[in-house]
Amino acid sequence: MKNVKLLNGVEMPILGFGVYQIPDLEECERVVSEAIGVGYRLIDTAQIYRNEKAVGNAIKKSGVDRKEFFITTKVWITNSGYEKAKTSIEESLKKLQTDYIDLLLIHQPFGDYYGTYRAMEEYYKAGKLRAIGVSNFYPDRFIDIAHFFEIKPMVNQVETHVFNQQIIPQGIMKEYGTQIESWGPFAEGKNNLFTNETLVEVGKKYNKTAAQVALRYLIQRDVVVIPKTVRKERMIQNFDIFNFELSETDMKEILKLDKKESLFLSHYETLKQLTI
Ligand SMILES: NC(=O)c1ccc[n+]([C@@H]2O[C@H](COP(=O)([O-])OP(=O)(O)OC[C@H]3O[C@@H](n4cnc5c(N)ncnc54)[C@H](OP(=O)(O)O)[C@@H]3O)[C@@H](O)[C@H]2O)c1
Repeated sequence: MKNVKLLNGVEMPILGFGVYQIPDLEECERVVSEAIGVGYRLIDTAQIYRNEKAVGNAIKKSGVDRKEFFITTKVWITNSGYEKAKTSIEESLKKLQTDYIDLLLIHQPFGDYYGTYRAMEEYYKAGKLRAIGVSNFYPDRFIDIAHFFEIKPMVNQVETHVFNQQIIPQGIMKEYGTQIESWGPFAEGKNNLFTNETLVEVGKKYNKTAAQVALRYLIQRDVVVIPKTVRKERMIQNFDIFNFELSETDMKEILKLDKKESLFLSHYETLKQLTI
C-alpha cells in the first residue's frame, strides 16, 4: 500500500474503503470484515452513516493491531458547535471502540463549524485525534479555515472523480499543505462511469476495468480514494491498482472527461439534500 504524508507527518493510506449507504449494522460489519481481509486498512465512516458501531466491531474482531488501521469519521451538521461537537466526538470514540480517531473531518460547512473546529483542535492537542480536517469545503470556505485556524486542515474530502476532477481546488489545497481526498471516486456509477468508452479503452491496454482505471487515475494525481462496495470480488478488484501505471497520453485522455461540476449537489443551490 502506498501512503501519503499529512502536514503533521502522519501517514495515511492512499486507498481506503468507504461505508456510506450501508446503514444495516450486520451488513456493514460483514462488509468491513471482508474489506479488512482483502487488505484495506483505511475505513471511512461518518456519524450520519449510523454505522460507526459496526466499523468498530469489525475492527475489534479482526485481530489486526489497532495501530495498522486508519479510521476516519465526520462530525455531522446537527452536532456543530463547540459543546455539541465535543459530545459527538465522545460518542464516536465509544461507537468505534477506540481511544483515538486517525482522522476527524467536519462533514459539511454548515452550522457553527468554527466551534466544531475549535473542539477538534482541543481533541487533537490531547492526542485523541491523530489528524483533523474538513469535507465538502469549497475553496472560499476552505481558505477561511486554513488561513485563520492555528492547526491547518490536514485533509479536505470533496467529490472527486473523472467527471469532476477538482484540479483548481486541489491546487489551492496544496498551497496550504492540505491533502485532497476523493469521495465518490466512481461518481456512484453516474454518467455510466463503469462503461465509459475512454476508461474501458485505456483499461484494455493494461487488462484492467474502467473502475480500476478511474481509481488509478486519481491516485496518480495524488488523490486519496475510498471506493465503496458491498461485494467482495469488487473489493478485490478495487484494491488491485498498484501493479500498473497510466501513461502520460492516457492521463491526458482522461483529463478530457472533466466537466468541472458536481454530479450530486451544489452548496450554491440547496441545503435540502443534506437534511437526511
Ligand atoms: N464526505 C462526504 O460528504 C461524502 C459523500 C459521499 C461519499 N463519501 C465517502 O466516499 C465513499 C465512496 O463514495 P460513494 O459510496 O458515494 O460512491 P462510489 O465509491 O463512487 O461508488 C459506489 C458504487 O459503485 C459500485 N461499485 C463499486 N466498485 C465497483 C466496481 N469495481 N465495478 C462496478 N461497480 C462498483 C457500488 O456498488 P456495490 O456496492 O453494489 O458493489 C456502488 O453502487 C463513501 O462510501 C463514503 O465513505 C463521503
